[in-house]
Amino acid sequence: MMAGRRDRLMKNASNNNMSINPRSRIIIAIGIGILMGCIFAFLYPHGFFHTNSPLSTTDHFSNSQTSTLDCEPDERANILKADIMGLKEKNAELRKQVRELQEKLRLAEQGKDTAQKQFLALGAQPKAGPFGTVKSLRTNPTVAPDESVNPRLAKILQEVAVRKELIVVLANAYVREMLELQVSTIKKADIPNYLVVALDEEIAEYCKSNNVSVYMRDPDKGVDSIGRNGGNHAVSGLKFRILREFLQLGYSVLLSDVDIIFLQNPFDHLYRDSDVESMTDGHNNMTAYGYNDVFDELAMGWARYAHTMRIWVYNSGFFFLRPTIPSIELLDRVADRLAKQNLWDQAVFNEELFFPSHPEYEGLHASRRTMDFYSFMNSKVLFKTVRKDANLKKFKPVIIHINYHPDKLPRMKAVLEYYVDGKQDALDSFPDGSQ
Ligand SMILES: *[C@@H]1O[C@H](CO)[C@@H](O)[C@H](O)[C@H]1NC(C)=O
Ligand SMILES: *[C@@H]1O[C@H](CO)[C@@H](O)[C@H](O)[C@H]1NC(C)=O
Repeated sequence: MMAGRRDRLMKNASNNNMSINPRSRIIIAIGIGILMGCIFAFLYPHGFFHTNSPLSTTDHFSNSQTSTLDCEPDERANILKADIMGLKEKNAELRKQVRELQEKLRLAEQGKDTAQKQFLALGAQPKAGPFGTVKSLRTNPTVAPDESVNPRLAKILQEVAVRKELIVVLANAYVREMLELQVSTIKKADIPNYLVVALDEEIAEYCKSNNVSVYMRDPDKGVDSIGRNGGNHAVSGLKFRILREFLQLGYSVLLSDVDIIFLQNPFDHLYRDSDVESMTDGHNNMTAYGYNDVFDELAMGWARYAHTMRIWVYNSGFFFLRPTIPSIELLDRVADRLAKQNLWDQAVFNEELFFPSHPEYEGLHASRRTMDFYSFMNSKVLFKTVRKDANLKKFKPVIIHINYHPDKLPRMKAVLEYYVDGKQDALDSFPDGSQ
């Protein structure tokens, strides 16, 4: 295309030269001028016309420049314009090629990444079995224990953990009363693998003098000031930073807040098939385990019903983590967001666990299991439902978490009176919610 246009232009240029023919001297003078021009153009292709185009060094462009010297000013301008148009097209074409190559590279890297992960997870590439027999992995391999991250903690865990599993509780002096109550239930339920992470000296002292396993971290300014002076939510956010080392050391952690009463040994009631096994804030089958919530938008007529996936959040005050890469990634992602923004740790914990990958965002791929909401009972279930139901009242939960009520201590004591001492009316005086 370029070549064809150029030929046509050359022809025009030579016709122009023919039309100014009458006087031979003038012809010779013009001829010499043209010759000189051609020679200069040949020797200094960039000397006369400057362009920013990356293509200015290509042969056909220098040729075009040569031809433009044969012509009158507006003709030359037209030729140049045409050349520039051509170059712009060429540029756009190259840019498109670059984009396509970048996309190919990105896909190749994605493929490599996925393939590597699959190789690590499975070891071999399986064939799909017959209908009804295939089952994907939810139990990820555990990480290789790395004692070097914290030899002192490794030694403590070796003594405290049972089958490489333990309960971990963070506490500072503000929650001492609740901790004492919890420890009394731990002892009654005969749970040996229970460890307190003391956030200040008072709690460390309390544990030592009461035969409770305790771990105090090495001084760390940022963590320590939150640990000593932080309120409920701030301390709650700390656990995501502190738990990492436990998992790196190869231990499964059952994280527990202090406002929890233990009535049975929770390790007898875990499934251990998922990265994260958590108690729920839900209060019945639907809210605890998930349901299809149909949203009605009348204006859409035929398509008025929009189906939405709903589940009540997992409770970030009581969850079991297996020492796997997704679990550690979860801790990192939550800790990172809590460090940068003032957010509620439970909301962040759930967003990271549940939001899928989407444009500009890569979701976490952790397997999840919701604990039985009667066995691992929140205080809404207890005070709204269970205490009013003759059958449910007889059932003994594994734990009860006073997460829905601000008057935690009196309700914890009432739970103990009812479930441990058998005082039948111990729960009756409390309202369903806080009032
Ligand atoms: C302290 O606890 C350990 C096990 O947790 C137990 O063997 C020991 O008897 C306890 N000691 C006291 C003084 O209670
Ligand atoms: C809740 O689910 C369990 C089984 O998961 C079932 O036995 C029970 O009947 C269900 N309860 C209600 C109220 O649907």
